[in-house]
Amino acid sequence: MTDTVAVFDTTLRDGEQAAGTRLGSRDKLTIARQLARLNVDIIEVGYPASSPEDFEAVQLVAGEIEGPTICALSRAVSSDIEACGKALAKAKRPRIHTGIGVSDIHVMGKFRDEKYGGTLEEKKATLVRMAIDAVKLAKQYTPDVEFYAEDAGRADPVFLFEMLQAAIEAGATVVNIPDTTGYTVPEQFGALIRSIREHVPNITRATISVHCHDDLGLAVANSLAGIRNGARQVECTINGIGERAGNAALEEVVMALRTRADYFGLRTGVQAREFCRTSRLVADMLGMMVPANKAVVGSNAFSHSSGIHVDGFLKDRETYEIMRPEDVGLSESRVVLTARTGRAGLRDRLERLGYALSQEELNQTYQRFLLVADKKQEVFDEDLVAILHDEIHPVPETYHLEYLHFYSGTAAIPTATVRLRVHDEVREGAAVGDGPVDAVCKAISHVTRTSATLARYDIRAVTSGTEAIGEVTVQLEEGGRKVMGRGASTDVIEASAKAFVDGLNKLASLAR
Ligand code: KIV
Ligand code: ZN
Repeated sequence: MTDTVAVFDTTLRDGEQAAGTRLGSRDKLTIARQLARLNVDIIEVGYPASSPEDFEAVQLVAGEIEGPTICALSRAVSSDIEACGKALAKAKRPRIHTGIGVSDIHVMGKFRDEKYGGTLEEKKATLVRMAIDAVKLAKQYTPDVEFYAEDAGRADPVFLFEMLQAAIEAGATVVNIPDTTGYTVPEQFGALIRSIREHVPNITRATISVHCHDDLGLAVANSLAGIRNGARQVECTINGIGERAGNAALEEVVMALRTRADYFGLRTGVQAREFCRTSRLVADMLGMMVPANKAVVGSNAFSHSSGIHVDGFLKDRETYEIMRPEDVGLSESRVVLTARTGRAGLRDRLERLGYALSQEELNQTYQRFLLVADKKQEVFDEDLVAILHDEIHPVPETYHLEYLHFYSGTAAIPTATVRLRVHDEVREGAAVGDGPVDAVCKAISHVTRTSATLARYDIRAVTSGTEAIGEVTVQLEEGGRKVMGRGASTDVIEASAKAFVDGLNKLASLAR
């Protein structure tokens, strides 16, 4: 068995399924470029049959990214697989990832229609046939077909073995064993992988992949247990983002394998020095903060504070550090960005942050950068990210904030007046509120006639000093849909209005 573990990144597919997040096709391309620098083996870009935008994302990435294998997800349904095949047409190394549920709960719950059979056994037989047909169809588009046995963690192992054997017989080259609901514990999941190696007769013709969710906080531990027991591909996401509590964090799995090579005796091809940059890029683009205590990439991951620790660390850093911060990309010399920094300096910094822009995008960003630089002594990385979100990755503008005026004070009723362009129509309105932010949001709601509610509001000064850019992140909810909106400005009320309008634009684009 090989001593290399293939790293399958699903940040753009499973990661993007995290509640309240959405990436456009160009956002996915930006992140995919950085994942290629990180040197992951496989990038799962999306689920092309789910939306035209996801189809386009897979097409864009497949057309540009050459190193890693480019993968697209499908159900065991021919129209899904055909969409994958088309979207991946330009990929140098395409992979189709198809599969079906295998636990009794999934079989009875998701395939309850009589057309799949009346009893559990009949339904299982139908699902095996569907899996075989799906793999065979996918093989017509690419030799590299991965089969997932959804909810394998809760499945009857005997049926799981039968399903895997059939999928490999049909041509699957990788079999993915997902703990879809994050239900298993490490010893049990490791034993499951071992038992697959022992009971699936043709297993040596395929690579075993593990795909663990974090509902009990065990995704990384379960993935490592799977690897220890013979899995040679691991599926994970940057910062561990994903459905519900998320997926196994890629940076944690890789650094565990690397730091404890003495125990695992395995390696990956990942360029760990790109971790911090990748983590930040993903967090910025999704509007999700990385917790300070997040392993490997959190801002406190290499900070020492208590006297005893600091004393020991200063004498010998190995007393309290098992990894070196520079190994995950934490120590870089700093260039100060000011209005005198040219395009080359700006491009360099953007690339360090993981944003590889086209010349046109760079020019656009540079103009906006100069406006900010004129107002501030130094432009910080966070300022750049805020600028990029406004300039380079905008969602279609159903609503455009043209004018904002607010009035507030210790002895005044907070009042806001707004003017918005809604398509070609200009609308104006005013409202009073509990504070200026509340008044502004109410005025915008009134003008846009939205029923969206503000579920969360976060503000942070992304730079220091009184001239700082304030970044506001809001979560809006409407009809069961949740989106994040972001806005940045040196004026926090304006940033709030922008974030609210950005969220409304996202809701409008989802409703299309
Ligand atoms: O968690 C899961 O089961 C999945 C599959 C679609 C691979 O994400
Ligand atoms: Zn998953």
